[in-house]
Amino acid sequence: MSSSTNLLGHRFLFVVGKGGVGKTTVGTAIALAAAARGKRVLLAMCNAKERVSSLLGVPPIGSKNVQVAPNLHAVNMVPRDALEEYGLMILRSRTLFKAVFESNVVSALLRGTPGIEAWSMLGKAYFHTKETLEDGRPRYDLVIVDAPATGHGLEMLRVPRIITDVAPPGLLRREAEEAVGLFRDPSRAGVVIVSLAEEMPVQESIELHGILRTELVLPVKMLVVNQVLPRLFQPAERSTIEALPDALDPSAALQPLAVAGRARAARESIQEESLKRLSEKLPGLPRVTLPLLFTPELARAQVESLAEAFKS
Ligand SMILES: Nc1ncnc2c1ncn2[C@@H]1O[C@H](COP(=O)(O)OP(=O)(O)OP(=O)(O)O)[C@@H](O)[C@H]1O
Ligand SMILES: [Mg+2]
Repeated sequence: MSSSTNLLGHRFLFVVGKGGVGKTTVGTAIALAAAARGKRVLLAMCNAKERVSSLLGVPPIGSKNVQVAPNLHAVNMVPRDALEEYGLMILRSRTLFKAVFESNVVSALLRGTPGIEAWSMLGKAYFHTKETLEDGRPRYDLVIVDAPATGHGLEMLRVPRIITDVAPPGLLRREAEEAVGLFRDPSRAGVVIVSLAEEMPVQESIELHGILRTELVLPVKMLVVNQVLPRLFQPAERSTIEALPDALDPSAALQPLAVAGRARAARESIQEESLKRLSEKLPGLPRVTLPLLFTPELARAQVESLAEAFKS
């Protein structure tokens, strides 16, 4: 990673990617890396079946921000609670909140505003970038949103634009406009795309990158290629390895090993092709490669080790 990326120096990061590629793991690793740098960090999940608590070995994380490591808070945003909390945060008064949000007109308006549930979460995450401590410093230097998987993640990222288009002039629209201003500012915000070095995830990542850049006009800061296997075979050896099971007597003692070797060699070829394609299609995008870890369940020690990649 080039130091000019300065990923940990941002105020707001979205971690996006296909389902199951490791967004939550990567978001947690980036959060730990930033916290280790002395940044005050909020890791915000979006109504997820959260697994950050098991990754970090802390009690389940609910819809209230809780400390999960030094300098690191986490929250699992839930639309209803987030909407109420967000309303309170921007209105700063429960009476005003009740008057505004519980009036029939406003609740009908909110119910009728497309994307309001997604916005309640995104708006809450955004709001946390503006909170200050008593001494005036920001409560959080960095807010990381662990976005829903591709389709829903994109839906969520489209929402501030929808709000700015459909909401009547006023607080809601002003907030959404400000948020879009932050999300699009490459000096303060950015998107991290997580991928695997496999055909389908690579294809999706390339498409996602296109949509983020052209439609949403969001700065994409980094590609994280997760679960990469170390190379055991040189490309020149692969054809030999791949032919070995057929060359051996089916009952030969080495047959299972040869079959495993063939599978591994095939996977390494796909991985190499995938990495090459990512370089060709996303030239110049800083890239971090994370190893596939062989533990039954990732826990704190593993995610701490993955975090190292984001500290350089
Ligand atoms: N580098 C890695 N090595 C080994 N296992 C990993 C690695 N990264 C992630 N995993 C495992 O892969 C699974 C999916 O990871 P994770 O939950 O981070 O993905 P996700 O993209 O957040 O998924 P979802 O789309 O469901 O939210 C988990 O079981 C996790 O432990
Ligand atoms: Mg996840």
